[in-house]
Amino acid sequence: MRIDVITIFGEYLAPLRLSLVGRAIADGLIDLEVHDLRDFTHDRHRTVDDAPYGGGPGMVMKPDPWGEALRAVLLAGDPADPVRIVVPTPSGQRFTQAMATEWSADPRLVFACGRYEGIDGRVVPWARTRRAGDRPVVVEEVSLGDYVLNGAEAAVLVMVEAVARLVPGVIGNEASHADDSFAPGGMERLLEGPVYTRPPVWEGMAVPEVLTSGDHAAVARWRHEQAVTRTRQMRPDLWGDRDDPPR
Ligand code: 6GU
Repeated sequence: MRIDVITIFGEYLAPLRLSLVGRAIADGLIDLEVHDLRDFTHDRHRTVDDAPYGGGPGMVMKPDPWGEALRAVLLAGDPADPVRIVVPTPSGQRFTQAMATEWSADPRLVFACGRYEGIDGRVVPWARTRRAGDRPVVVEEVSLGDYVLNGAEAAVLVMVEAVARLVPGVIGNEASHADDSFAPGGMERLLEGPVYTRPPVWEGMAVPEVLTSGDHAAVARWRHEQAVTRTRQMRPDLWGDRDDPPR
């Protein structure tokens, strides 16, 4: 998978070279290309922002550097590959595990990092008129949740980590994804319950007996019950109006 990030703060993406994603990059499973939006300006000050039409506070990112940067990035990489452009913004659709799963099968993701009050409103509709790999470019405006960050870079760190760990080969034990909270195929609307390791008694608290019973079916049942209990407690919105589970 090739991941392009267009940003004015390339250094902000440095943590992606560490840890799990870093190893995937080193192993060649993920090709991460970070681009400086200012390289696509032509004035002496490398200007990427301007005052908003209609007045008001803050600055808006100019469309020209974005048009040039996106054109250049779309021309890079394998011309046969379809491209998904992600624009992180608090006014986007909520990012979900289902999206991370879908994106993890994509050959190319492009993240367009806005700063200030956002990117000129013509850029996203224009990007949707572009083609790559003989297919229309897919453009998604995506939010992490209902709060405001100063820029998209922190959101890109989150989204790339969520996607990269699902790319085949990135995590050693693929089976571990199936039990994740929100994992498609059983956990999509459940939170994972508590987990335990040695010692068997710590600070007077014993590990739940079923976990040491060796009865795998009983363990699976218990874990599911714990997931249900936790979901109802922590996220009644996720549980909704479901009855007690048939299991
Ligand atoms: Cl994706 N971007 C920004 N700037 N703020 C956010 C966000 C994204 N998600 C939640 N808040």
